[in-house]
Amino acid sequence: MRARPSAAGEFGVPSKVTVPGLRARKGSGMPILALTAYDYPTARLVDEAGFELILVGDSMANVVLGHASTLKISLDQLISATRAVKRAVDRPLVVSDMPFGTYHVSTSETIRNALRLVREGGAQAVKIEGGRGRARQLRALVDADIPAMGHVGLLPQSIHTQGGYRIQGRTLESAQALLDDALSLEDAGAFAVVLEGVPEEVAARVTARLSVPTIGIGAGAGCDGQILVLHDVIGLATAPPPKFARRYADVGQVIREALKAFATDIRSGAFPAPAETYAAGEALPDDWDRQVLADRLGRDEAARGRDR
Ligand code: KIV
Repeated sequence: MRARPSAAGEFGVPSKVTVPGLRARKGSGMPILALTAYDYPTARLVDEAGFELILVGDSMANVVLGHASTLKISLDQLISATRAVKRAVDRPLVVSDMPFGTYHVSTSETIRNALRLVREGGAQAVKIEGGRGRARQLRALVDADIPAMGHVGLLPQSIHTQGGYRIQGRTLESAQALLDDALSLEDAGAFAVVLEGVPEEVAARVTARLSVPTIGIGAGAGCDGQILVLHDVIGLATAPPPKFARRYADVGQVIREALKAFATDIRSGAFPAPAETYAAGEALPDDWDRQVLADRLGRDEAARGRDR
C-alpha cells in the first residue's frame, strides 16, 4: 500500500481502531466518527479524514447500484465491496452489513455468511438489523468470534414490515420497545448499536442505558457516535437525502461540470493536445503505411486466385 496522508494521531484519533478500542470509547466524551464507503478511492478519503469506523453498508444498493431499497444487494456484492475497502485502509475498523436474507434462516447459515464477509472480504465485524428478534443470531455470531454490531429503530431492510422508512420510538410503547431491543442486543454481545431514525430524547436515553456505544443516524446529538451515508455527505446521491443528512460538498455538480467541459473539448478538438499523446520512437517515412497495404493487396489477390 502506498504511503499517504492520514489523520492517525491527529485529534486523538487512535492509530488502529479495534473492536475493544471502539467499545472502550463509551463514556469517553470523544464521539465515534463513522461513515459508509463501498470502494477503494472513497475508503482512502474517509480514512484520510480521520473516520474511525467504515461501514460497508447495504445502502450501497441505493447509492451505488441504483436499487429502490436495500433488499436486493447480494452477499457477493458486499464481499467484493468490502475487499476493495480493506485494500484501501488499515487504520479504521471495517464493518460490513449482512444483506437481507443472509441472517434470517438459521444461526448456522448466519455464521457461514458472516464468515465469508470476514474471510473473503476482510471485514473485522458485521452488522445486522433488528432487535430482540435478532438477538439469537447476534449471539451466535459473537460466539463464533465474529464481532457484531446491532441496528435498531428505522430498519431499511424491514421496509415492508415497518410500512416504509418510518421514524421509530415516537410513542411511549415504541420507545420502550426500542430500549428493550437495544438492551437485548447488548446482552447478546453487540459491541455497538446503531440507532437510526429515532427521536433525539429517546436515543439519548437509550445511549445512557447501554454500556456499549450507540452510533446515531438521524438520532440526534446524544449518541456516542455519528454515521451517515457517504454519498449524502458529499452530494453524490441521486435520490433526495433524508432530513437528517447534512451535505458538505456538491461532488455531483463538480463531476457534471468536469464531464461537460471534457465533452466540449472533444467536440472542438481541444482534446487531446499534443502533450496528451505519444510520439513515435523514430522518424517514420511519409509512406510507412504503403508496404503494409501493398502486402495485404497481394495476399487478397492470391486468395482470390486460389478460390477460382
Ligand atoms: O447501510 C447503511 O448505510 C447503514 C447506515 C446505518 C449508515 O446501515
